[in-house]
Amino acid sequence: MAGYLVEDTRKVTTHRLYEMKQSGKKIAMLTSYDYSMAQIVDGAGIDVILVGDSASNMMAGNVTTLPITLDQMIYHARSVVRGVKRALVVCDMPFGTYQVDPQDAVRNAVRIMQETGCDALKLEGGVEILPAVKLILDAGIPVMGHLGLTPQSINKFGTYAVRAREEAEANKLRTDAQALAEVGCFGIVLEKIPADLATEVSKSIKVPTISIGAGGGCDGQVLVVHDMLGMNKGFSPKFLRRYANLYDIMTDAIGQYVADVKSGDFPNENEQY
Ligand code: KIV
Repeated sequence: MAGYLVEDTRKVTTHRLYEMKQSGKKIAMLTSYDYSMAQIVDGAGIDVILVGDSASNMMAGNVTTLPITLDQMIYHARSVVRGVKRALVVCDMPFGTYQVDPQDAVRNAVRIMQETGCDALKLEGGVEILPAVKLILDAGIPVMGHLGLTPQSINKFGTYAVRAREEAEANKLRTDAQALAEVGCFGIVLEKIPADLATEVSKSIKVPTISIGAGGGCDGQVLVVHDMLGMNKGFSPKFLRRYANLYDIMTDAIGQYVADVKSGDFPNENEQY
């Protein structure tokens, strides 16, 4: 199955995502953290690739996204960009690189853009990070917002449970989404919030919303690619649909290789010089 599985092979832009929302076309987004995976994900026709700070969990084995550094995100994003022809590549700004000082945030944002060649950045948070978001946008850098369950704040939340079930938190999320859209963000990820709230917010703003555990009323969906490919066994939230069981497939293949080496079956005469 060679080539793109979509008719339109032009490079995806933030403007195209806006047009997709206007015309009711859903946006498909997945994470990638390295060149090889990004090539496959892009070749299969994904619209947006997120170099998520979930690399901290998926690539480095950390329990949270907090430990990953700016240099490490730059390494991942640069590797992904090399493998992508069509998708819009969005890179997460890691914890601590935009919350402290808006001027610092712009400097860090510029570094990511210059050193990786990615197309846009994603920041977690609402009105409290608006000064940083504004300055980054003023520097000509497209920004995607991220509201609801924001994993960089896990120590404040104390739980990965669904957010914004209470009216006060739902109201803050409504205000945050309006503010991010009005200031010029090109899209907003809504993570693990009630589907009704996500649908309402999606209808109330002009820019696309991307759901992860926020239901089908959003303008697009995102999943962590390792989760949807079934590369880990322990993570089974309600919102996750598994499209493959690569954990078992890879274990079987590697187990077969081990057996072949040990039995002397590999390499055979045709596999040597
Ligand atoms: O880092 C990440 O993978 C993300 C997604 C969960 C949206 O931010």
